[in-house]
This record gives sequence, C-alpha cells and structure tokens, in this order.
Amino acid sequence: PLPGAQPPLGKIPADIGCAADYEVLAQRFMAPPSYDYVAGGSGRDLTVAANLAAFARWDIYPRLLRDVGAGHTRVTVAGQQFAHPVFLAPVAFQNLAHGAGELQSARAAHAVDSCLISSTLSSCTLEDVARGAGPQRWFQLYFQLRREHTQDLLRRAVQAGYTAIVVTLDAPIQVPSKRALDAGFRMPADCVAANLRGYAPAATPPLAPEQSRIFQGIMSTAPTWDDLRWLLGQTTLPVLVKGVLHPDDAIALRAIGVAGLVVSNHGGRTLDGAPASLDVLPAIRNAVGPAFPLLFDGGIRSGADIFKALALGADAVLVGRLQMYALSVAGALGVAHMLKLLREELEVCMALAGCATVGEIDSGTLLRRQDAP
Ligand code: FNR
Repeated sequence: PLPGAQPPLGKIPADIGCAADYEVLAQRFMAPPSYDYVAGGSGRDLTVAANLAAFARWDIYPRLLRDVGAGHTRVTVAGQQFAHPVFLAPVAFQNLAHGAGELQSARAAHAVDSCLISSTLSSCTLEDVARGAGPQRWFQLYFQLRREHTQDLLRRAVQAGYTAIVVTLDAPIQVPSKRALDAGFRMPADCVAANLRGYAPAATPPLAPEQSRIFQGIMSTAPTWDDLRWLLGQTTLPVLVKGVLHPDDAIALRAIGVAGLVVSNHGGRTLDGAPASLDVLPAIRNAVGPAFPLLFDGGIRSGADIFKALALGADAVLVGRLQMYALSVAGALGVAHMLKLLREELEVCMALAGCATVGEIDSGTLLRRQDAP
C-alpha cells in the first residue's frame, strides 16, 4: 500500500451495512491522493455532483399485495444472459486500489455472476485478467493511434475469450481533476497500461506556434465516425459504444450498426458540465426504441439507484468507483461483497415496489419529487 493507506483486509469488514459504506471505509485503505483521484472528476466536479443529485429527484412507489414469490433479476443484454443487471465498469489502473487490482475484481465478478468489463488501461494484461474471470467478460477498447494496434487489441480480446467490445468514445482528451491536483496526486510509476506495452506511439508532427494544442494537436488524431465504421468491420463480436449522452448520437450510432450503448459521462471525468447520465437516459431510451440494448453508468451507489436507472430505460448498469473502493478495502472479497449487497438492495426495492422481474421496472414505478429542483 502507498503511504497513508492501510493494507487490504483478508475478510469482509464488520462495519459494512450497505454497498455505499465502501465509499466511506475506502478512505482508510487508499492513500489520500489516490482516493481523491478516484473520487474526483474533471475540472470542478460539476458533473460528478450532478450524477449523484439526479437520483434524489426520483422516489419509488411501494406497491401492495403483489405476488413476487417467483421473482428474479435475470436480464438479457445484447443477446447474452446475466443473473443480474449489475456489471463492473471498466476502471483503469486498479493497482492504485489493490496490488493485484484487476485480477481481484475479475475473480469477484466471476464469483457473483457479474459481467466484467476490462479496461484497455488495466494494470495487468487482458490475458491475465481473463484467466481469473468468469465466462461473462467484455473488453473495453480505446482506439489506438495506429490501426494495427487497435486490431491487435481486438485480436487478443477474441483470443482471450471476451464476448463483446465496449468502445469508449467520450474521452479523446484527458481533462485534469482539480481535486486530484490539489491533493498532490501523481500517477505512480507502476501504473502503466500493461496491454499497450510494445505498441510504439505514432509520431505526432510538431505544432506551428499559431496552431492549437487541442484542435491541431490532440484532436487531430482522435477517432471519427469513419474510424468507428472501420472498427465495426474488424470484428464479429458485438460492439457497444460507451459515453453516449445526446439522443442524436444514439440514433446515429444505432443506424451504423452498433450492438448497444452505454449512457455515461465517464463518471464526470471528461466534460465537466456534461449532464447527469440519469437525466438524459429517458430521452435516449425514447430515441433508440424499447428493444435496443442500453446500459447506464454514473453515480450508482445503491440498489435504489439501480432500480431508478432500470425504471428510466436501462437494461443493466455499470459500477465504477464503488468497485475501486471495495477493492481497496478487501480485494476480491470486498468487490464480490459490494456486488452482492447491490444486488440484494435492488431485490429489496423490486419486492417492495411489486416488481417480480427487471422487465416490470418501468417509469410508472417512479414519482418525480415535487420539491425537485
Ligand atoms: C473510469 N472510467 C473509465 N471508463 C472507461 O471506459 N475506461 C477506463 O479506463 C476508465 N477508467 C476509469 C478510472 C477511474 C478511476 C474511474 C473512477 C472511472 C469510467 C467508468 O467506466 C464509469 O463510466 C464511471 O466510473 C461510472 O461512474 P461511477 O459509478 O464511478 O459514479
């Protein structure tokens, strides 16, 4: 562990009553700057706050006397079946939270039948992650500067048994986090993207003084619609796009043949001031129609949050920060416990709201709060 951090426990901590408790407890198990890096977003954290606040604008109606005795949480997403709709979001450099980061979260996902979405920027290779993972594993892809490297990642993902590609498109620029900077966070030297070793970076031409570091620099190599069309022709795996917030993008992505979308603002880590994921979810569901695969992330801290996202149009949700927090507290055991708690919290909501299946969780189960801003 880094200075200021307690080593992870070998057991489930006694003082955890709900999944969100891991967020509090993690402050003892992560070095303070690392915690701030994970907890924070880009800029002034406006979107981080918006993600969390959006859930408080909805209440869940309790319903009476419904027979939910045959209830279950099974879902089908992009043609694949899952025991429950709580997936692990792609989160980079998990060795910030635990020495064996991704290997531990992969084992946890396997143990509790969750779908693992392994990041391109993992601190161990996608092949090593796959060895501990269950059969339900997807690979999160970042376009590489050279197409042959993107192709190589795809080939390796297929080889290692990943069953879908989630291409993240909302982060062409790394935006610094004020909170992490203020805390003195520096990426530790051992946080390197193991998957990208050996991929020599493409040479970028020097900028003329009048040229912009952003437009002519970084964005001149960022992926475009042509690159996504090219990608769709490179694999037979389903390709989902992560980072969708505008209904017009959702419609266009559906039209070019992606297998599904993740409504996400990257946990508030890219465009600070982007809307809360939950606030745009109904319009995106409306835009793509009732049957199109739609996942959601941003601000999930409880089973009630999951229920609300499902009610507003998601087929399943991804959990980002809670994964890192639980990992830091108790490794695979912590992540598995956190996922189990989330699933049980969701089941309690379903039971009390009279929903026997995830399919029954629709917008009629929610009430928009009268005092909502
Ligand atoms: C992320 N996220 C992310 N997304 C992605 O597509 N690839 C990645 O490598 C990462 N890395 C990453 C690191 C850290 C530390 C965080 C907190 C997040 C975004 C992640 O997949 C997800 O969209 C958000 O974390 C969801 O919001 P919550 O659950 O953290 O509120």
